[in-house]
Amino acid sequence: MNNDSKIFRSIVKGVGASLPKKIVTNKDLTMTVDTSEEWIEERTGIKERRIASEGETTSSLGAEAAQKAINNSGLENSDIDLIILATSTPDNTFPASATAIQSSLGIRKGYAYDMQAVCSGFVFAIEAADNAIKVGNAKNALVIGSETFSRIIDWDDRGTCVLFGDGAGAIVLSASDDASNRGVLSNHLHSDGRYGDLLYVDGGPSTSSQVGFLRMDGKGVFKHAVHNLSSAIIEAIEYNNLNINDIDWFVPHQANKRILEAVSKKVGLSKDKVIITVDKHANTSAASIPLAINDAVEEGKIKPGDLVLLEAMGGGFSWGSTLIRW
Ligand code: UT7
Repeated sequence: MNNDSKIFRSIVKGVGASLPKKIVTNKDLTMTVDTSEEWIEERTGIKERRIASEGETTSSLGAEAAQKAINNSGLENSDIDLIILATSTPDNTFPASATAIQSSLGIRKGYAYDMQAVCSGFVFAIEAADNAIKVGNAKNALVIGSETFSRIIDWDDRGTCVLFGDGAGAIVLSASDDASNRGVLSNHLHSDGRYGDLLYVDGGPSTSSQVGFLRMDGKGVFKHAVHNLSSAIIEAIEYNNLNINDIDWFVPHQANKRILEAVSKKVGLSKDKVIITVDKHANTSAASIPLAINDAVEEGKIKPGDLVLLEAMGGGFSWGSTLIRW
């Protein structure tokens, strides 16, 4: 613990991503489950997804994304003193997969842990890293979202198996005391456990000897997602005394293109400002936002100085937003 009373701001220094090699298209899925290319694309916007092969794990994908983010930040691995891995699909029940990533990156100092807030995990992890930086507990934090949802999918359930993919993304957040307005400007998090049975996994260490499979009431989740994401956007805008048009880029959790369109319509934001990657990644849970950020940065969309609003909603329910001046 650092008792220095100076308040730091967390600025984004680097981004990175990692995807499994194997691409599974909608057409591929029609060979194994009673579905059609049209149904999947029209109802979700998904065209293809990456699926982890044997040997590709949450920690291996996460470590690759993290290494790219560190390289991109100009820092050394030894500069990292905090690793938060947002995931619901850890390699094992314990230890935290974040410590496996720490080890594979050769990092020997600081602390590492997993954050479990399902599809909102990346936003929850940024909030935790930002707070650790602000109180002086960390200077350079790796915030990673990495998932292998293919391993908890019931591949006979057409209502869910077409929706998810695997992958990882990461950012480096660093303490900065410069007077510029860059960095994390606000975090707003929410949970409401009354809706746990609309999206859950039917197994786990304390209730069953099996890891279990993902179960979802899609329509129920859809309705809440539109409402909660819209209210999260408005909350962030109002808190920061902004107008919706002041935001340069919206990076939502990528679950369904129709959810993103409905939210855009509800809060009156321009579709051109919404980063969409669900077509090629499908729903990668906690990895979807950093994967989308990485794409947007690589494509030259998100640039230094831009106001970027991250928003997510998922199982729990848990939802929230982070506003960053890039
Ligand atoms: O990341 C966490 C948050 N998760 C989400 O945000 C997911 C939210 N929910 C959704 O994205 C949508 O509800 C789904 C994409 C999951 C489903 O779309 P929907 O428009 O709500 O469809 P539905 O579940 O009401 O199903 C409509 C029909 C049903 O047939 P009947 O009963 O009308 O005859 C389903 O059996 O579509 C059928 N169906 C399928 N047909 C072909 C369900 N899955 C499939 C499929 N292929 N894969």
